[in-house]
Amino acid sequence: MQSQPRKITILGIETSCDETAAAIVTDGKVIRSSVVASQAHLHSEYGGVVPEIASRAHIENLYPVLSKALSQAGVTKDDIDAIAVANQPGLTIALIVGVTAAKALAFFWNKPLIAVNHVHAHLQAAMLQAENLELPAVALAVSGGHTCLYDCESPLELKLLGTTTDDAAGEAFDKVASILKLGYPGGPVIERAARAGNPRAIDFPRTMLGPDSLDFSFSGIKTAVLYHCRGQDMLGEDRVASMSGQEIADIAASFQAAVIDVLVKKTLRAAEQVRAKTVLLGGGVAANSALRETLEKVCGEKRYRLLVAPKSLCTDNAVMIASLAWHKYRAGVFADLALEPKASA
Ligand code: KG4
Ligand code: ZN
Repeated sequence: MQSQPRKITILGIETSCDETAAAIVTDGKVIRSSVVASQAHLHSEYGGVVPEIASRAHIENLYPVLSKALSQAGVTKDDIDAIAVANQPGLTIALIVGVTAAKALAFFWNKPLIAVNHVHAHLQAAMLQAENLELPAVALAVSGGHTCLYDCESPLELKLLGTTTDDAAGEAFDKVASILKLGYPGGPVIERAARAGNPRAIDFPRTMLGPDSLDFSFSGIKTAVLYHCRGQDMLGEDRVASMSGQEIADIAASFQAAVIDVLVKKTLRAAEQVRAKTVLLGGGVAANSALRETLEKVCGEKRYRLLVAPKSLCTDNAVMIASLAWHKYRAGVFADLALEPKASA
């Protein structure tokens, strides 16, 4: 009788932005624990993430988050085969907290260290439950810091097809929520406001950047919302405070529809270019129901198999880090203790 391959259990750590997270995952799929400490309340008054505040909060949160992840999974250091950490891309002074902790644990527990790309990990969340990946596959990672299209050959082989030339899609949601004084993070509050609005009320620009381009630009739409509320070139007064709830809802719905239009059209464009059989969607903005439903509809029409990250694993978490790290473990791709955080991918 053939013996079963040994199960591999990985501790994942995530501190790239404003969530401190740790998770224990076995064989890339079995989630033994997932703990996320959000700092959104610390950044809300600024309408975006303040790196210094994020870094200090990671320092404060990391130990309790790690302890909870271990105890919820019912494991000790002896059950863990490797320590994985997101080391890029992200805010350097935020990443450095997780990277330093992961290196210390790897050193003192004598475990291998695995470095994970945070954006690639968002797509791993979409592959988590898929038994196989029918190729070619196009993957859209859409978050607060990134909007990227990839030709995805495997969880570890992602060829960049296009990326944002200015603001990421999530960043546009956050900035528009700030203009509309709806709070932070912007995605969920815009989505909520948009439910009562008319997506055709205002014709915000859809920047496509040329007929074959797979790059993205969302700074134009953000400026268009700003001018809509403050007058052309910001020469008028800020009308937001005196707008009715319906007016705000119409702006939110029209903005959301324009962003989704661009994301979906570019994804289809990429899928056509690589003759994709599968489309993957992950990242914080992938939590948006309207985006999920629109992509589901068009992928159904075009007969692409759509794999979407579960809503609970769209925004930052450490399950995706530990899960992608399992593929690296099997491929023998380890980092050494000189690992550094990197702001860009
Ligand atoms: O992936 P993520 O947690 O962090 C980064 O890697 O940046 O993504 C956070 C982003 C924020 O910009 C947030 O506004 C956006 O994801 N987001 C959403 C929704 N939930 C979170 N955007 C649109 N609709 C949502 N429901
Ligand atoms: Zn993220």
